[in-house]
Formats: sequence, C-alpha cells, structure tokens
Amino acid sequence: MAVLEILKYPAPALRRKCLPVERITERTRELARAMLDTMRDAPGVGLAAPQVGENIRLIVVDVSLGKDPKQVHFLVNPEIESAEGERIVEEGCLSLPGVTEKVHRRETVRVRALNLSGEEVFIDAREVLAFVLQHEIDHLDGKLILDHLNKTKRDVVKRRLKKQARAAS
Ligand code: NI
Repeated sequence: MAVLEILKYPAPALRRKCLPVERITERTRELARAMLDTMRDAPGVGLAAPQVGENIRLIVVDVSLGKDPKQVHFLVNPEIESAEGERIVEEGCLSLPGVTEKVHRRETVRVRALNLSGEEVFIDAREVLAFVLQHEIDHLDGKLILDHLNKTKRDVVKRRLKKQARAAS
C-alpha cells in the first residue's frame, strides 16, 4: 500500500492545467494504484493526479468507498461528452480541509475516457457518481470548489484556508 501526500490549498500544483496522458505505461498504472490507496486512506470518493503533485489527466473515483470493486474507476484523459439537468450539491475536497460548500453541478453526465489498458470507456453517471466525476475533472483544469462560489464567499473561504495552512506549517 502506497499512501501519497495529498496537497492542500494553496499548493500551486492544484492550480495547473494538467497535460493529457500520451502513453499509458506501468508508471501510470503504479501511480493510479497509489492514488487509490491514498484515496482509501483519506478516506474519500475521488482523487485527481494534481492532488498528489502529478500534472497529468488521471483520476480515480469510487463512490462505494471500497465496498464494491465494480465501482472503482481509473480514468485517463476523462472528458464530459454531454450533461443534463442541474443540481445544487454540498461538496468537500481532500485538498480543502474543513470546507463544505454548495456548488452547481449537472445531474447526469456521460464521460469518455481511457482505462488503464488504453481502451476507450464511457460512463453514464447520475447523481453522486456524476457529481464526483465533475469535481475530479475540474481538478484536472486547476479548478476547485472555491471557483464555483461567488467572490465574497470565495474570499472568506480562501482567507480561512490560508490561515489554516500557515498554522499547520
Ligand atoms: Ni477535490
């Protein structure tokens, strides 16, 4: 079991636009497995590569929290192909400790990605899985829950997080 450090806001790595994975190698698969271990340890339902300092488009999600192996998805270069409906969802993030905020999400999404064998996969997700997929794909573009808030709210949460980070260092 390889548990990696989860970067916390305001780590610059969380703000970068991640690069597509050009070639899936054993190194990619090792990183994906380490991300799963890290997510389980946290525990969380999703983790994106930039949260462990890797600037590539790779995410892992498991909304069953380890209860159902069929619900573990390793997705390379995931993209939202289509989306429907609107929902307001309360979300947290492993990189934003202590923050839960209401954000707008789409109710259902169709995601296209590659699996770790390089095969194209499609996921038709609704509700929790759809929300987690949107959250993790946001991370790949350097986008955090904060960016879904209005400016006043965002500034309050940012100040609190920066104070927290200073106190912890
Ligand atoms: Ni997150």
